[in-house]
This record gives sequence, structure tokens and C-alpha cells, in this order.
Amino acid sequence: MYSKIQETASWLKAEMTTNPQTAIIMGTGLGHLADEIEVTRSIPYAEIPNFPQSTVEGHSGKLIFGKLGGKDIMAMQGRFHFYEGYSMKEVTFPIRVMYEIGIKTLFVSNAGGGTNPTFHVGDLMIITDHINFFPEHPLRGKNFPTGPRFPDMHEAYDRGLIRLADEIAREKGIEVQHGVYLGTQGPTFETPAEYRMFARMGGDSVGMSTVPEVIVARHCGIRVFGVSVITDLGIEGQVVEVSHEEVQRAANEVQPKMAEIMREMIRRS
Ligand code: HPA
Repeated sequence: MYSKIQETASWLKAEMTTNPQTAIIMGTGLGHLADEIEVTRSIPYAEIPNFPQSTVEGHSGKLIFGKLGGKDIMAMQGRFHFYEGYSMKEVTFPIRVMYEIGIKTLFVSNAGGGTNPTFHVGDLMIITDHINFFPEHPLRGKNFPTGPRFPDMHEAYDRGLIRLADEIAREKGIEVQHGVYLGTQGPTFETPAEYRMFARMGGDSVGMSTVPEVIVARHCGIRVFGVSVITDLGIEGQVVEVSHEEVQRAANEVQPKMAEIMREMIRRS
């Protein structure tokens, strides 16, 4: 695996004309953040050696290099989910590559079902912590030399970046929630009983991504900031039918606010 990561990183370095230290993973329905990027180079995943290919509708599968908030950035439009059948090593492959090309800070976004009874559809939840409910751990197996065998996770989401996001949200009059993202494998949305269980376990937003990537980023010493867009509710007594299209629509509606926060954070961090 390590030689594949290095091969991909060398290939990308040869293609790159910028030197980004910031990467963004644009989740479901949030790929339009790409419209805000002054793109210098856009590479379909299919052209990148060893890169997995994304299969879900609404995840277009491109690596974008350019400027956002006046800084060089690299963005993943489309990510790899465990439910698609990828191994955890494949899901987190791009993060290992990011580390090799010099990424220091990672911004992640996702869509989630809100299990916190104070949440509404369209809320932006700054991720303060997560619960790993995936059936396989991304660091299972021989340890990579980028980090310890038993990595500390007491501050998976950088407190300084959370403070900065709060400051920017306050300045811009954007209301934000804070909460715990619980990552589970999917692809089913939750039954009412599962939402109830996740709420009691301490989750505020439930989704099918992000946790594996964040674990590997932390193992590499990459700082992380994450936002979960609440696209549907998993609140007791309020659970209704949910579809991928609805999730995308709800995410689309709030993405200008989210883009504003992300852009400003990148400018100031
Ligand atoms: N559950 C799991 N994943 C999700 C949800 C949800 O309710 N909404 C968006 N992604």
C-alpha cells in the first residue's frame, strides 16, 4: 500500500503547479464549493494512478487544485464510502496521499441526519467530536510510520479552527450548531429505533462518511475541521421518509453559507 501511495503522490506532484497545505473534502451535495475555487487544474479520479473511483450519483469524482480565500488548496469533489464496497484502506487512500504531498489542514463536509432534538433541516453543525461506529477500523493492520500504533484522539477536531469558525459565523450572522458526528456504514438510512439508539449514544448527526478519513488524517498529524449539514431529522417522533435526492436538495440549499465559512476560514488560517 505504501508504495502505491508514494507512486500516486509522486505522480500528483509532477502534475501540480501549486503547493497547497490545505485540502477540502466536499461531501454530498456540497460539491458546488468547487464553484468558489479559482481552478488551476482539475484531474478526474480515473486519471490518477491507484485512485479509487467514486460510484455514487452526486459525487462527481475529481481532484481540484486552485485558490480559495487567497490560498492554494486541493479539493476532493467526491469521496469514497465504505458502503460502496471499498476497503477502509481505499476509503482513506487519498488522505495518505494528501500527507505525502504536504497537506497540513483538512476541511471536511458531509450530510447527516440530525438526532439532536434542537436541530432543524438546513442547520450547519460544526463537528466537535465523533463516534466511530464503522464495523472496521481504518488503522487496522500494520501501523503506518506517520503516527503511533495507538493514536490519541482527545482532540480529533481542532479547537482553534472551531473557535475561528464560530467567530466567522458570528461576524456573518450565520447560525451554527455544535455537535458529535456519528459515522456508520450505511447504505440504509436509519430506522427510528436506530436513530434513537444513536441519539442516546451521544450522536447529534448521523452519517455514512468522514470518520475514517478524519482518523487517518489525525494519524498523519493533519489538523481537521468538519461541518455536517443536517439534511433530515432522526428525532424521536419526527422521523419521516428520506431519500438521497432530498439529502442532496437540503445540502444544496445551505451550501452558500457553508462555503462562506470555509472560504473565510481558509483565508484566516
Ligand atoms: N443517516 C445516515 N446518513 C445520512 C443521513 C441519515 O439520516 N442523512 C444524510 N446522510
